[in-house]
Amino acid sequence: MFEEATGDLTNVLYDIALAGKIISGYVRRAGIVDDVLGSAEKTNVQGETQQKLDVIANETIKQAVAHTGRICVMASEEEDDPIPCVSNPDGRYVLMFDPLDGSSNIDVNASIGTIFSIHKRSEDPTATALDHTLQPGTNQVAAGYIIYGSSTVMVYTAGQGVHGFTLDPTIGEFRLLNPDVKVKPSGKYYSVNESNFSRWSDGYREVVRHLKGAVGGPANQKNARYIGSLVADFHRNLLSGGVFMYPGDTKNPNGKLRLQYEANPLAFVIEQAGGRASNGRTRIMDIDPTELHQRVPLVIGGVNDVQFVEDMIVATDGDG
Ligand code: AHG
Ligand code: MN
Ligand code: MN
Repeated sequence: MFEEATGDLTNVLYDIALAGKIISGYVRRAGIVDDVLGSAEKTNVQGETQQKLDVIANETIKQAVAHTGRICVMASEEEDDPIPCVSNPDGRYVLMFDPLDGSSNIDVNASIGTIFSIHKRSEDPTATALDHTLQPGTNQVAAGYIIYGSSTVMVYTAGQGVHGFTLDPTIGEFRLLNPDVKVKPSGKYYSVNESNFSRWSDGYREVVRHLKGAVGGPANQKNARYIGSLVADFHRNLLSGGVFMYPGDTKNPNGKLRLQYEANPLAFVIEQAGGRASNGRTRIMDIDPTELHQRVPLVIGGVNDVQFVEDMIVATDGDG
């Protein structure tokens, strides 16, 4: 029989929504309120310079969930190791998150976001904090993101479709304006950082040649759109149709994006919206993680667009 529904998962989503409202408040006042813009002058475990808003968002989410009794372990892009919630070691859920995605866009007022992934705690009684976080994406019970754009929108799935909520600042609540979102099988945009072209495999080069109409003419041609915020590029492609790619290359064979709190949560969302997410060959959510911050190449979007990329990679680069 079904485990008794305690409402805990719903409340975790409310906790995240509350954190999103607080972060949105900082984003909307950046520059007016001191100490939101600019660098925090610290380097995180990713080797990246933390922005002040990275730190603010990270602390906001930790505070929103650490003492609710619902989360046993948290893991963040901004934290070296998983954080056991010592005040509630029996919490039923695990939360992994990228507190502020698109940090390079904070100071130039382009859209940024927060990405989150929720698992049940491991059933292994000997599980360490790290064990709770090293679960494949297929174990996710909910996932989504909050995008701080022209409005603040929270998009999530709990395995029953994808639903978009817009923050109404006049009442301070998220309102369901976009229920049951579905992604087009093939869309009008492609998103990739083409400055890495010289380091890509022949397969990705051939894909982009087709997508820009240099090969095959207008039949496969799409519009290039790349903001440099994964959440913003993903959200546009989810709503308007398209494919996002962050390939591995000769310098970074696993690409840049992190499996546990960028690729997996968005993979859950896109699959629930009828789309697909892979590393170019293997379904993202089937990948067994070995490290908390491991990176993975990402191809994500409409099912036909992703299939086109995968087929071109196999045809050009071989079976890998
Ligand atoms: P984060 O700000 O959380 O580190 O993520 C940035 C990521 C992602 O948002 C975006 O798609 C990608 O970095 C852009 O990387 P490039 O500048 O290398 O294209
Ligand atoms: Mn990110
Ligand atoms: Mn980030």
